[in-house]
Amino acid sequence: MSENIVKEALQQSLVDLIQLSLQAKQAHWNIQGEGFQSLHEFLDGVVDQSRIALDEFAERLAAIGFVSDGRAETVTKTTTLKELPGGAIPVDQGYKLIEAALTQTANTMKEHISAVDDADPLSSDLLISTARDLEKSAWMMRMYSK
Ligand SMILES: [Fe+2]
Repeated sequence: MSENIVKEALQQSLVDLIQLSLQAKQAHWNIQGEGFQSLHEFLDGVVDQSRIALDEFAERLAAIGFVSDGRAETVTKTTTLKELPGGAIPVDQGYKLIEAALTQTANTMKEHISAVDDADPLSSDLLISTARDLEKSAWMMRMYSK
């Protein structure tokens, strides 16, 4: 199994987590309507969660001899997340958009787990633990918006 599989998986996760952190902050600022306060606060938790995780991915790349690419241009070109709409976001739509972004980020990580596991189980462990945390937040967003 090629080392490049590990690099690609970690790099893809890095850009998706950067995009997730930006989208959660954008939504934090621009949601409107009933239920604003709880979603506004929850979204900052998603920002913190994604920022902590993205640092782990960039530093794992460095630790195993690769370089990371967290440039804005690279994130825009390579993220698997859908673009967030501009402008004000109704609260109920905000829940759906960020839940989808959390799920997409986790799903892309999960797609890489088995291939990465053969090459570098420690990087696979990072994919697993991060995807699990993201799915937990996605679940919470679904429950908040019931
Ligand atoms: Fe704030």
